[in-house]
Amino acid sequence: MRILLYQIGQLLTMDDHDGPVRGKAMQKLSTYEGYAILIEDGKVVRIAPSDELEQVTADEKIDCRGKLVTPGIVEPHTHLVFGGSREHEMALKQQGVPYLEILKQGGGILSTVRSTREASEKDLYDKAMFHLDRMAQFGITTVEAKSGYGMDRETELKQLRVAQKVNQDHPLEVVLTFLGAHAITEDYRDNPDALLDEMAKMFPQIKEESLAEFVDIFTETGVFTVEQSRRYLNEAKKCGFDIKLHADEIDPLGGTELAVELGAVSGDHLAVATDEGIRKLGQSETIGVLLPGTIFYLGKGDYARARTMIEAGAAIALSTDFNPGSSVTENIQLIMSLAALKMKMTPEEIWYAVTTNAAHAINRGDTAGKIIEGNQGDIVIWDAPNYQYIPYHYGVNHVNTVMKAGRILYQ
Ligand code: NIG
Ligand code: FE
Repeated sequence: MRILLYQIGQLLTMDDHDGPVRGKAMQKLSTYEGYAILIEDGKVVRIAPSDELEQVTADEKIDCRGKLVTPGIVEPHTHLVFGGSREHEMALKQQGVPYLEILKQGGGILSTVRSTREASEKDLYDKAMFHLDRMAQFGITTVEAKSGYGMDRETELKQLRVAQKVNQDHPLEVVLTFLGAHAITEDYRDNPDALLDEMAKMFPQIKEESLAEFVDIFTETGVFTVEQSRRYLNEAKKCGFDIKLHADEIDPLGGTELAVELGAVSGDHLAVATDEGIRKLGQSETIGVLLPGTIFYLGKGDYARARTMIEAGAAIALSTDFNPGSSVTENIQLIMSLAALKMKMTPEEIWYAVTTNAAHAINRGDTAGKIIEGNQGDIVIWDAPNYQYIPYHYGVNHVNTVMKAGRILYQ
């Protein structure tokens, strides 16, 4: 199967750099006008000026005049597999009940834990496939998915197995993260360390069955302390996992500093990271995954200080944080607009943050987030004249065509 995209209005290959793009390097990217891309058997085989390629024979030739073409978007932080939904909490939020208070009262994450424990594997699977389809429709071609709505052995394994099956069956690639340390369930209220011990006991089996590549934890007031997180994540590292943290989302506990100290692949949220945390992040390999949709949806004012982070030299990625409580959207394009409007990120920074940096945040930097010869054809054609247009024209879907590994999913 050969597909040719020709006369591309504007092409972003995002391949100016090897490795994650840090600090001021995020402010410059190359564009190509009038180019063509030849995809054969799932792989990009040639990128060249259109007149050099237009004559080749292909099963499908797509005229991309006036259109933007970019790598498929990489989504590095989602809670894809869950039971139920939480629309009933909207009224509580409107009355001003804080997110952590709802959790304390047994709602929030714990409400989704109950629904997920009750849900059959089939229901969870169907639901995850549905949301994954929708992500693809918004231009996403690689997705990270966390467990964390079981917090008992059986349900955590159920969630991870569903994510694994979805990865096998759906054209999008799904990268798995074990988030068994997501909240404190009622039975562990007085002894959260015992819950962490229970979850840590699962590490060898999860490793053995390749049920996750990353281990993540929610380091937050009323959830897990910095000390507990350090102990748990060190244990995960010993078992061969790469690590991530939900850090400094609501209270500035020093989660950003901990992410750097432990050499986490990413520190996520960082909305209230301290000056010191940002300084350390800027000098580290840890990628800051920012989730402005969550701040928007929780009705808070503290957007992560992306500008300060980039000035400090950090590599930044962006994500929806798709989940049933704090950010209920699959629309990464909306997140790109929020990054521009609320965090003052430039369009260039935003594009690095949703492609190559996002790929590095889930250890897929070599295979996703770039269009290069030899790589799989993960490509989006946009109904937009240039890359600046996507964050600018907000709230709608600009996707024209989505291709995963050279296969057209939506057109
Ligand atoms: O990233 N903060 C913790 N976890 C999710 C929210 C999960 C939920 O509310 O169901 C987050 O915001
Ligand atoms: Fe999250």
